[in-house]
Amino acid sequence: MDDARPVDTAVIGAGYVGLTVGACLADLGHRVACVEKDRLKLAALRAGRVPFHEPGLPELVRAAREHGLLSLTDDLAAAAARAPLVFVAVGTPTRGDGTADLSALQDVVEDLSPVATPQHVVVVKSTVPVGTAEWVQGVMAHAGASVAANPEFLREGSAVADFLHPARVVIGTLHDGAARLLASVYRPMQCPILVTDPRTAEMIKYASNAFLATKISFINEVAAICERLGADAAVVAQGMGADPRIGPHFLRAGVGFGGSCLPKDLRALVACARVHDVRPLLLEAVQDVNEATRQRFIDTVESALGGLRGRTLAILGLTFKGGTSDLRESPALDIALRLLDGGAVIRAFDPQVGEEITGHLPQAIRCTDAYDAGEGSDAILLLSDCPEFLHLDWRRIASRVRGRLIIDGRGLPVREVATRAGFVYLGRGDRLPVSVP
Ligand code: UGA
Repeated sequence: MDDARPVDTAVIGAGYVGLTVGACLADLGHRVACVEKDRLKLAALRAGRVPFHEPGLPELVRAAREHGLLSLTDDLAAAAARAPLVFVAVGTPTRGDGTADLSALQDVVEDLSPVATPQHVVVVKSTVPVGTAEWVQGVMAHAGASVAANPEFLREGSAVADFLHPARVVIGTLHDGAARLLASVYRPMQCPILVTDPRTAEMIKYASNAFLATKISFINEVAAICERLGADAAVVAQGMGADPRIGPHFLRAGVGFGGSCLPKDLRALVACARVHDVRPLLLEAVQDVNEATRQRFIDTVESALGGLRGRTLAILGLTFKGGTSDLRESPALDIALRLLDGGAVIRAFDPQVGEEITGHLPQAIRCTDAYDAGEGSDAILLLSDCPEFLHLDWRRIASRVRGRLIIDGRGLPVREVATRAGFVYLGRGDRLPVSVP
């Protein structure tokens, strides 16, 4: 396959991964059909709306559609029949026992099988247990199609930039032709391309997310120790991160990791290890520390206020991280629920979440902005690192609160400005204040 030649491509699943892959490939000049079977999502996309917050993606989708390079359909067979390159980017949520639910992928493979030909390369982008691409290869064997595992490393909130400027691309396949085709598609990204076998590629994805989760739990445990010793956890992280063997990323102490990937992939890896008689001691500890970190935040709120019952708490940020509208496995949401259970009154605001707040936290008061949330509150809890919170007028908030206390679960750089506005600021790794004005 000629490097420069555009490839007709189908991307199955138009979630944040599938739609990002589709729109970016179209942006690179390939003709892409994105296949989505959820009627509501498809209707929104066709009407020009991306039904989740992903910076830059709506613009990319619009431009690609205007150039006639991106189409949106629910007809998987027709899209795949026209496209030699088929990416599968459907969800693999957690089942009750922690393992990955592959039913969406199995449905796709079943639909693909009758239209597959020897010219087809089926690329598994979804995060799947080790051995899944081999299984897909087995199903496709009758048609002579090739299969590759090609895990994604896109972060929500920066998925477009991550796709176009990846740190690396991993291609797991036993077929030279498939490796060459995929390498040609990714060549414009000018990053290292690692070609390996499918099992290793699948494991690289799980190991990467597990390592990121490990870094976060590590620093959260260090922050817990810092709190007792009077050391500044943020500066400890800075000092550690300056060592290139450690690196500065994913060392921000907070309320623990959440989202649709890290917790799920960790559970799947733990479950998989146990099935194969490996006791994943470290990974189990990473999960335990993550749970303890949420509880430790709640304990801090409780100790700082002398109890939760009847206290009014302003929660700023409910998504699993700033810059997204995603509430899946959000530590903030879980903490809010536990605070409500403890008898607190919750006034909640998130710039990216509207009415959905009421669905998840029916007992909370949904506020229109941070100032409204602060009204009459005994403490402000920063639970998501939304960029909008960097520009708040803390004096205005101070004039509306009952107690001038900020408990920051995200390490936002607002200590100085909030302190100047008269707040006591308590970050992760800080000791409890003596008294709150
Ligand atoms: C994660 C990985 O970072 C991506 O590389 C991967 O492709 C993606 O999962 C996936 O498997 O699809 P994402 O779920 O978007 O991406 O979120 P992250 O940016 O990794 O953050 C995960 C959680 O860790 C968030 O709750 C975040 O607030 C928290 N976090 C992150 C910290 O508490 N401290 C940090 O220093 C960094």
